[in-house]
Amino acid sequence: MIGIAVLGAGRIGKIHAANVAANPKAKLVAIADPFADAVNPLAERLGTEAMSDCMAAIERPDVDAVVIGTPTDTHVSLLLHAVKLGKAVLCEKPIDLDMAKSEEAAAEVERQNGRVMLAFNRRFDSTFAEMRKAIDAGRIGDVRQVIISSRDPGMPPESYVKTSGGIFRDMTIHDLDIARWLLGEEPVTVTAVGSRLIDPSLRQYDDYDTAMVILQTASGRQAHINNCREAVYGYDQRIEVFGATGMLVQDNLRPTTMRVWTAEATDAREPLLNFFLERYTQAYRAELDAFVDALSDDTEMPTTVRDGVKALRLAECAVESVRTGRAVTV
Ligand SMILES: NC(=O)c1ccc[n+]([C@@H]2O[C@H](COP(=O)([O-])OP(=O)(O)OC[C@H]3O[C@@H](n4cnc5c(N)ncnc54)[C@H](O)[C@@H]3O)[C@@H](O)[C@H]2O)c1
Repeated sequence: MIGIAVLGAGRIGKIHAANVAANPKAKLVAIADPFADAVNPLAERLGTEAMSDCMAAIERPDVDAVVIGTPTDTHVSLLLHAVKLGKAVLCEKPIDLDMAKSEEAAAEVERQNGRVMLAFNRRFDSTFAEMRKAIDAGRIGDVRQVIISSRDPGMPPESYVKTSGGIFRDMTIHDLDIARWLLGEEPVTVTAVGSRLIDPSLRQYDDYDTAMVILQTASGRQAHINNCREAVYGYDQRIEVFGATGMLVQDNLRPTTMRVWTAEATDAREPLLNFFLERYTQAYRAELDAFVDALSDDTEMPTTVRDGVKALRLAECAVESVRTGRAVTV
């Protein structure tokens, strides 16, 4: 059994803790969070120990690995402490909002041969993973274009926006990772536009609510990412991959496949799954299981801190492109 402590008992910590508890090869040894109101009920529900000190949780002898789901500005110190003690880590995205700090952390992890996986959950979504498999199987020939539409159901609260690092580092980062993964080549240029169509006050945070990014690889492969913080019809998550001999499309998921014909509407379907916790339930579970499998089988981590650095670098380029109005070389 791999002893795991989950750090952070907020939105994402709750998901990870439940998934650790459900994994037959892992034991949820503790959940740590300085806020008792967050950690106590969760630990009680999952039958594990609640702790207030994340560093102390990392240091426990019965902890082999930690899952970091604390606020972004705490990731690097927790990550490096765990690696120093030889503990494996599943770290939430982004590593940090600062590029240099993320680079240094990744270099330190690599220097110490740390076992660190970066939590890019969408790669573990079964529908998107099927696209990667179809590309690998040669079903659409060489990839030419990847088109990702990724829109949230509604604006996050101002308290979140303030510390999020902006739409590109907070939201687009998932799509940038998926684009790298499906393109199969590293982007070399980034062009982006950003608008404030929902909330003009985002200007004070140098942030945007609506954005488009275009990536191009050295051989000329292209990716186009559409983001918006508000889609009135729900959480919109679609991908198209166009290749030399065909195309792959993954549409939004619904609670069931039911379609309804009435006098009011034909072929009506249920609303989209509401937000990331519902839409990516299976992906979070598969991500955690992949982390545990990599540890128990002693195989490569499926995603790495380097993936985290590369996605953040693309986000930085997007920010620069919006500011300058130019294509930015990665
Ligand atoms: N992969 C994904 O889909 C995804 C989704 C949501 C959030 N995230 C990432 O997960 C992280 C947490 O986000 P969230 O939405 O769960 O936040 P949250 O605010 O819901 O939860 C954070 C938790 O950390 C605790 N905390 C606060 N300060 C702390 C400290 N100094 N040390 C330890 N714990 C502290 C809080 O009490 C809270 O319970 C962020 O880095 C975010 O980017 C990833």
